[in-house]
Amino acid sequence: MRNIDEHTITDAVLQSLATTPDARLKQVMGALVRHLHDFVRETRLTEAEWQAGIEFLTATGQKCSDTRQEFILLSDTLGVSMLTIALNHAKPAGATEATVFGPFHTGDAPHVAQGADIAHGAPGQPLFVRAVVQGPDGTPVAGADVDVWQADEDGLYDVQRPELGTARRARAVLRTDANGVVRFRSILPTAYPIPVDGPVGRLLAATGRHPWRPAHLHFMIRAAGWQPLTTHIFRDADPYLDSDVVFGVRSSLVGDYVEHPPGDAPDGTPLATPFHTLDQVFVLAAAER
Ligand code: BEZ
Ligand code: FE
Repeated sequence: MRNIDEHTITDAVLQSLATTPDARLKQVMGALVRHLHDFVRETRLTEAEWQAGIEFLTATGQKCSDTRQEFILLSDTLGVSMLTIALNHAKPAGATEATVFGPFHTGDAPHVAQGADIAHGAPGQPLFVRAVVQGPDGTPVAGADVDVWQADEDGLYDVQRPELGTARRARAVLRTDANGVVRFRSILPTAYPIPVDGPVGRLLAATGRHPWRPAHLHFMIRAAGWQPLTTHIFRDADPYLDSDVVFGVRSSLVGDYVEHPPGDAPDGTPLATPFHTLDQVFVLAAAER
């Protein structure tokens, strides 16, 4: 009979996995067990700490609902989501980089025409966006679906405002024209804190971390023959660019949001307030065959 102690237990568990039929499951579970055991040995984890960890994970699961995914928030704030994206989206040189998806996309955004005001009454300074979707050689990608979503000037997404019910604002889907272009009016995004009324918020506070994300627009671009792209365009000069709580910033994703004094907007609307414009190019990678 084998004597189980702190040195032999890892091999015993690995041996119990030896007949796992799926080779990838065997590899992933083996690595998970080795790293978990090393973590317990390295930290000399106490039973009280182990119990606290179990209670934390239980509370994380209990916080999840149809509209709240606390485990993804945990993965995001520990950098695991971004690490997975970085490993799985190595793009050919020049292609636009991907970043986190986040919890605020909805599948029911309105499909709108070129030039539409997608803010739909969301508060914020006017922003006029012109985005070009193209391949690595500059060929326009016509007929691409460009899904856009963002927070308002209070740092809230529509789904975080119970008073709106299922009404959607500051989100839309547009289709690129023959030149690969979409144009729309929206509002200038602002920095916002991720939801902190759950275990992840308590963990951030306990570790002295702030909960802020730098201001950004979300884009998800899909077109036949091209790899889907899920990304953000961050506002330049945002104070949180270097400390995004979910580690989603890539320098190539910082956009040039240009401020303009009151006057005629790009769509010809005379505006009595300052406004911003953003001209952005997205480069898609060809789908693998
Ligand atoms: C977001 O950008 O919407 C987001 C991403 C990760 C966690 C929370 C929010
Ligand atoms: Fe966001």
